[in-house]
Order: sequence, then structure tokens, then C-alpha cells
Amino acid sequence: MNRIRQAVKKKLSEERYQHTLRVLDKALELGGIFGEDKEKIEKAVLLHDYGKAFDPAVTRRWLSTSAFAPDDIMAMNIDLAHGPFGAYLARVEFGIEEEDVLNAIRYHTFGRAGMSLLEKIVFLADYIEPGRRFDGADTVRRLAVKDLDEAMKAALEQSISYVASRGRPLHPLSLEALEYFKRRRSHE
Ligand SMILES: [Fe+2]
Ligand SMILES: [Fe+2]
Repeated sequence: MNRIRQAVKKKLSEERYQHTLRVLDKALELGGIFGEDKEKIEKAVLLHDYGKAFDPAVTRRWLSTSAFAPDDIMAMNIDLAHGPFGAYLARVEFGIEEEDVLNAIRYHTFGRAGMSLLEKIVFLADYIEPGRRFDGADTVRRLAVKDLDEAMKAALEQSISYVASRGRPLHPLSLEALEYFKRRRSHE
């Protein structure tokens, strides 16, 4: 874990590293409430934005050869590919093979249908760490400590309407994720 922490600290800007540490605090808090493995949380959170620290040309080259390609939305805004690229780096640079950890990194930006406990924790901790001050963050903050699925639904609704209001294309993974969390609610 120290190797990961050192590498991340070295590679990320100070600002992004501090964000990562705040996400880690929040994720460990949620992990304590909902019973997730601490080591898995640490690996996933420390590396969740690692893919952002690389030159866009490097990410673009990777995207063009990865199983995620072709993905027009990521190709148009290469920054959106930092999750899948980060999961790739976690495997090749740090030897992480736990699928759950890789998925938590891979899907932390868009979410997806059928997210695991770890995936929800990483997604939400990233969304509500104390540095996030947008409208609606507090709503998700309150929900997250009680019900991760409700919090996911609210976070996805907010981010989808934000992206839509700016006229940007919505990623199908997020839309599928929102449908999934809505269905989950109605079946209970
Ligand atoms: Fe991210
Ligand atoms: Fe992040």
C-alpha cells in the first residue's frame, strides 16, 4: 500500500492528491458503516484518479487499443477516460488483479448498472468529499450514510441533469446505472 501511496503522491498534483486523501477518509467512513474491506477501499481510492495524471495523448493512445474503444463520448472528452485508463494502470503498474478494485476505479466517473458495494463507496466518496461544494452535494451526503442505493440514485440524477443542461452527451453507462437504481427501489 505504501508503494501505491508514494507513487500516487509523486504523480498527482498536490491539489489532486489532497482530493484523493479526502475521498479516502470519506470512503473509509462509508466502509465502516456498510462493512467493506479497508485494503480494497485504499487501493481503489488511491488509484481512482491516477489516470488523470497522464498526458492526454497517452490516454488517447491507450483508449484506441482498449476493450472500451470505440467510445465516442470518451474520445471526445478524453478526461472522461481516466477511470478505465486508471484501472488498466492499476493492473499493469501495481499488479492489482482484484476485479472489484479494478471495477471501482474503472466505473467511478460514470457508475454502471449492478455496481458492487465497493464501487458505490468509491463513486459516492468521490462525489461528496468535503471539497465538493456544488448544490446537491449535501443531499447526497445525508443519504450516503443511511442508504447507498438512494444516494447513488440522487447523485446520478444530479450529474445527468447537470451534463444535459450543459448540452453535453450523456454516457450510456450513467443512464443504465440510473435506471438500475430506480428499478432497485421500486422492487423493494
Ligand atoms: Fe475521477
Ligand atoms: Fe476523484
